[in-house]
Amino acid sequence: MPENLSISQSSDRRAKYEILLPQIEALIADESNLIANLANISAALKQTFDFFWVGFYLVKNNELVLGPFQGPIACTRIQKGKGVCGTAWAKGETIIVPDVDQFPGHIACSGDSKSEIVVPVFKNGEVSMILDVDSNQLNDFDKMDAEWLQKLAGLIESKII
Ligand code: SME
Repeated sequence: MPENLSISQSSDRRAKYEILLPQIEALIADESNLIANLANISAALKQTFDFFWVGFYLVKNNELVLGPFQGPIACTRIQKGKGVCGTAWAKGETIIVPDVDQFPGHIACSGDSKSEIVVPVFKNGEVSMILDVDSNQLNDFDKMDAEWLQKLAGLIESKII
Protein backbone atom coordinates (compact mmCIF):
# COMPACT_ATOMS: atom_id res chain seq x y z
CA MET A 1 0.00 0.00 0.00
CA PRO A 2 1.41 3.44 -0.90
CA GLU A 3 2.29 5.53 2.16
CA ASN A 4 1.41 8.86 0.60
CA LEU A 5 -1.07 9.82 -2.03
CA SER A 6 0.45 11.59 -5.05
CA ILE A 7 -1.80 14.38 -6.18
CA SER A 8 -1.43 16.05 -9.57
CA GLN A 9 -0.60 19.71 -9.05
CA SER A 10 -2.37 20.49 -12.30
CA SER A 11 -5.62 22.36 -11.85
CA ASP A 12 -7.12 20.02 -14.45
CA ARG A 13 -9.51 17.64 -12.73
CA ARG A 14 -9.05 14.98 -15.40
CA ALA A 15 -5.30 14.90 -14.67
CA LYS A 16 -6.07 14.39 -11.00
CA TYR A 17 -8.43 11.46 -11.74
CA GLU A 18 -5.81 9.89 -14.04
CA ILE A 19 -3.24 9.84 -11.25
CA LEU A 20 -5.72 8.92 -8.54
CA LEU A 21 -7.40 5.83 -10.00
CA PRO A 22 -4.30 3.57 -10.20
CA GLN A 23 -3.39 4.61 -6.67
CA ILE A 24 -6.83 3.64 -5.42
CA GLU A 25 -6.42 0.31 -7.19
CA ALA A 26 -3.12 -0.21 -5.33
CA LEU A 27 -4.65 0.98 -2.07
CA ILE A 28 -7.40 -1.64 -2.12
CA ALA A 29 -5.42 -4.46 -3.73
CA ASP A 30 -4.30 -6.20 -0.54
CA GLU A 31 -7.19 -5.35 1.78
CA SER A 32 -10.36 -7.41 1.79
CA ASN A 33 -12.38 -5.44 4.34
CA LEU A 34 -15.09 -3.42 2.59
CA ILE A 35 -15.38 -0.66 5.19
CA ALA A 36 -11.60 -0.17 5.37
CA ASN A 37 -11.43 0.17 1.59
CA LEU A 38 -14.42 2.52 1.30
CA ALA A 39 -12.95 4.66 4.10
CA ASN A 40 -9.64 5.01 2.27
CA ILE A 41 -11.35 5.69 -1.05
CA SER A 42 -13.38 8.49 0.57
CA ALA A 43 -10.21 9.93 2.09
CA ALA A 44 -8.31 9.71 -1.21
CA LEU A 45 -11.10 11.58 -3.04
CA LYS A 46 -11.29 14.22 -0.32
CA GLN A 47 -7.50 14.68 -0.25
CA THR A 48 -7.26 14.95 -4.04
CA PHE A 49 -10.20 17.21 -4.84
CA ASP A 50 -11.14 18.70 -1.48
CA PHE A 51 -14.78 17.96 -2.24
CA PHE A 52 -17.21 19.36 0.33
CA TRP A 53 -18.58 15.89 1.12
CA VAL A 54 -17.69 12.52 -0.33
CA GLY A 55 -18.78 9.11 0.79
CA PHE A 56 -20.87 6.01 0.45
CA TYR A 57 -24.39 4.90 1.32
CA LEU A 58 -24.81 1.13 1.52
CA VAL A 59 -28.01 -0.75 0.65
CA LYS A 60 -29.18 -2.57 3.80
CA ASN A 61 -32.66 -4.02 4.34
CA ASN A 62 -34.11 -2.01 1.47
CA GLU A 63 -32.80 1.37 2.56
CA LEU A 64 -29.56 3.30 2.15
CA VAL A 65 -27.47 3.50 5.31
CA LEU A 66 -24.59 5.94 5.71
CA GLY A 67 -21.19 4.33 5.22
CA PRO A 68 -17.63 5.65 5.23
CA PHE A 69 -17.38 9.33 4.26
CA GLN A 70 -15.33 12.50 4.58
CA GLY A 71 -16.97 15.81 5.36
CA PRO A 72 -19.64 17.19 7.68
CA ILE A 73 -22.05 14.86 9.47
CA ALA A 74 -24.81 13.56 7.20
CA CYS A 75 -28.26 11.95 7.13
CA THR A 76 -27.93 8.32 8.17
CA ARG A 77 -30.79 6.66 6.27
CA ILE A 78 -32.36 7.36 2.87
CA GLN A 79 -35.38 5.54 1.41
CA LYS A 80 -35.49 4.17 -2.12
CA GLY A 81 -36.60 6.86 -4.57
CA LYS A 82 -35.96 9.69 -2.08
CA GLY A 83 -33.47 12.49 -2.66
CA VAL A 84 -30.70 12.29 -5.23
CA CYS A 85 -29.18 9.18 -3.64
CA GLY A 86 -32.45 7.26 -3.38
CA THR A 87 -33.32 8.21 -6.97
CA ALA A 88 -29.93 7.07 -8.33
CA TRP A 89 -30.49 3.80 -6.47
CA ALA A 90 -34.05 3.34 -7.79
CA LYS A 91 -33.03 4.14 -11.37
CA GLY A 92 -29.65 2.41 -11.23
CA GLU A 93 -28.20 5.48 -12.94
CA THR A 94 -25.65 8.19 -12.30
CA ILE A 95 -27.29 11.53 -11.53
CA ILE A 96 -25.61 14.92 -11.88
CA VAL A 97 -27.38 17.77 -10.09
CA PRO A 98 -26.00 21.20 -11.10
CA ASP A 99 -28.16 23.02 -8.52
CA VAL A 100 -29.52 21.00 -5.62
CA ASP A 101 -32.30 23.54 -5.02
CA GLN A 102 -33.72 22.63 -8.44
CA PHE A 103 -33.85 18.87 -7.72
CA PRO A 104 -37.32 17.93 -6.45
CA GLY A 105 -37.00 16.10 -3.14
CA HIS A 106 -33.29 16.81 -2.68
CA ILE A 107 -32.27 15.88 0.87
CA ALA A 108 -30.27 18.74 2.33
CA CYS A 109 -27.85 17.22 4.84
CA SER A 110 -26.03 20.55 4.75
CA GLY A 111 -27.21 23.93 3.46
CA ASP A 112 -23.70 24.50 2.11
CA SER A 113 -24.01 21.77 -0.50
CA LYS A 114 -24.82 23.37 -3.87
CA SER A 115 -24.27 20.67 -6.50
CA GLU A 116 -23.97 16.91 -6.38
CA ILE A 117 -23.14 13.73 -8.32
CA VAL A 118 -24.33 10.28 -7.31
CA VAL A 119 -23.00 7.07 -8.88
CA PRO A 120 -24.45 3.62 -8.19
CA VAL A 121 -22.20 0.62 -7.53
CA PHE A 122 -23.60 -2.77 -8.57
CA LYS A 123 -23.27 -6.29 -7.25
CA ASN A 124 -24.88 -9.18 -9.18
CA GLY A 125 -26.84 -6.70 -11.28
CA GLU A 126 -28.33 -4.88 -8.28
CA VAL A 127 -27.27 -1.59 -6.71
CA SER A 128 -25.35 -2.47 -3.56
CA MET A 129 -24.16 1.02 -2.63
CA ILE A 130 -23.97 4.52 -4.00
CA LEU A 131 -21.07 6.96 -4.13
CA ASP A 132 -22.18 10.51 -3.35
CA VAL A 133 -20.06 13.60 -3.95
CA ASP A 134 -21.22 17.09 -2.93
CA SER A 135 -19.73 20.46 -3.80
CA ASN A 136 -20.20 23.82 -2.15
CA GLN A 137 -20.17 25.37 -5.62
CA LEU A 138 -22.96 25.35 -8.18
CA ASN A 139 -22.55 23.27 -11.34
CA ASP A 140 -19.33 21.62 -10.19
CA PHE A 141 -19.78 18.21 -11.87
CA ASP A 142 -20.02 17.17 -15.51
CA LYS A 143 -19.81 14.11 -17.76
CA MET A 144 -16.08 13.84 -17.16
CA ASP A 145 -16.64 13.39 -13.41
CA ALA A 146 -19.36 10.85 -14.18
CA GLU A 147 -16.99 8.90 -16.44
CA TRP A 148 -14.20 8.75 -13.87
CA LEU A 149 -16.41 8.08 -10.87
CA GLN A 150 -18.09 5.28 -12.84
CA LYS A 151 -14.62 3.83 -13.51
CA LEU A 152 -14.04 4.00 -9.77
CA ALA A 153 -17.39 2.26 -9.17
CA GLY A 154 -16.26 -0.44 -11.62
CA LEU A 155 -13.06 -0.87 -9.63
CA ILE A 156 -15.05 -1.31 -6.44
CA GLU A 157 -17.35 -3.82 -8.16
CA SER A 158 -14.48 -5.89 -9.52
CA LYS A 159 -12.08 -5.71 -6.59
CA ILE A 160 -13.89 -5.43 -3.32
CA ILE A 161 -17.51 -6.52 -3.42
N1 SME B 1 -28.20 15.17 -0.83
C1 SME B 1 -28.38 13.75 -0.77
C2 SME B 1 -28.33 13.26 0.65
C3 SME B 1 -26.99 12.82 1.10
S1 SME B 1 -26.00 14.08 1.50
O1 SME B 1 -25.83 15.02 0.41
C4 SME B 1 -24.54 13.59 2.11
C5 SME B 1 -29.68 13.35 -1.44
O2 SME B 1 -30.49 14.20 -1.82
O3 SME B 1 -29.91 12.15 -1.57
